[in-house]
Amino acid sequence: GGIAMTTEGLEDVVATTSRICDLDGKLGKLTYYGIDIHDLARHSSFEETAYLLWHGVLPTKTQLAEVEQQLHASRALPSRIIDLMHLLPPSTSPMDVLRTTVSALAAFDDDLNDKSTAADERRAIRLTAALPTITMTWNSIREKRNPVEPLQTGTHAANMLYMLTGKEPDAYTAHALDVALILHADHELNASTFAARVTAGTKADMYASVVAAISALSGPLHGGANEQVIRMLLRIGEVRNVESYLEDALARKERIMGFGHRVYRTEDPRATHLRAMSQELGERTGDLRWYEMSRAIEEYIKEHKGLNANVDFYSASVYYMLGIPIDLDTPIFASSRISGWTAHILEQYANNRLIRPRAEYVGAKVTEYVPLEQRG
Ligand code: CMC
Repeated sequence: GGIAMTTEGLEDVVATTSRICDLDGKLGKLTYYGIDIHDLARHSSFEETAYLLWHGVLPTKTQLAEVEQQLHASRALPSRIIDLMHLLPPSTSPMDVLRTTVSALAAFDDDLNDKSTAADERRAIRLTAALPTITMTWNSIREKRNPVEPLQTGTHAANMLYMLTGKEPDAYTAHALDVALILHADHELNASTFAARVTAGTKADMYASVVAAISALSGPLHGGANEQVIRMLLRIGEVRNVESYLEDALARKERIMGFGHRVYRTEDPRATHLRAMSQELGERTGDLRWYEMSRAIEEYIKEHKGLNANVDFYSASVYYMLGIPIDLDTPIFASSRISGWTAHILEQYANNRLIRPRAEYVGAKVTEYVPLEQRG
């Protein structure tokens, strides 16, 4: 039979069944294993959410303590991975460092030949713990400072901020980042998760699948957008410049980063929390400039393009006010989404069939082979 229909960008194409994440773009509703993202943002922690994504149920107290302990124990990197980072030019993009070191981590997995679910669950924990360590270690190395050793205690979020600054963050700051991590943990078949599942579908290992995901996340149409948003805010500088900036940008047919979404036609439910956090952080730091500029941009784009802010829009100002260097925004996204990627890879392995779609051929049907000597 022929191929019925082509959908560029696979828009609305259902490519797999999954029990992990339900996303309703019309209602603006997002759930992980049926639990509403708003409940998770209000009551959960990144660790608990990661456990939920991996196992399909919330952990008991004992299970939560166990997974937290396993994450703590997996934070340190093999010293040769740190040596490898020292070989890279300081200008290397943190996402490229993440991609390269995760690839190299496979070589340091002692039970790489163990393909059991238990071994893959251990890898999911190892990779989740490793991503923030890689990111923050690289940040020190490129600035020619001694890397800060990861903490053996505390949350994923608190450890990340500790490794960034060398100081334990206050409870408010650590909680703010924790909520941002919960909100980024999974999002159905986004481009990077799909890339991970396509790779896992060939029975390639978890490292290879995560490298594919990191690569896909790095692009400005996906995870790279948060970094571009803060660069735009810095270019605009103050609220009174918003209108003229956007007028010019839209006249040049530029895409405004942090707006639009393939699935949501309403507000992105994650943006609701991040907007409130951006305001709260502005109030706490006494500098509401980033929040107010963001609000003005949001109103203008809604009015002139009918587009809503997505998860990347307000996370940009939130991360900036948390003191996170701009080009670490996407690695921080990765340090959360790794929980979703690995959950999807586990689900793919558990019920695997090679993912191999078709292309609708629209090229010439017959082309004559002209020998090289006869080509002009
Ligand atoms: N700025 C200006 N116009 C836009 C934007 C935008 N950010 N997004 C969509 N449009 C317009 C687009 O030009 C098109 O209009 P027209 O039909 O007149 O040409 C219409 O809206 C539909 O756009 P599309 O490209 O067909 O939509 P898509 O589903 O292919 O793209 C998207 C989705 C997220 C890639 C896109 O909205 C975009 O480029 N946004 C900016 C980048 C961004 O913020 N990415 C983060 C996405 S959410 C989280 C994540 O993945 O990290």
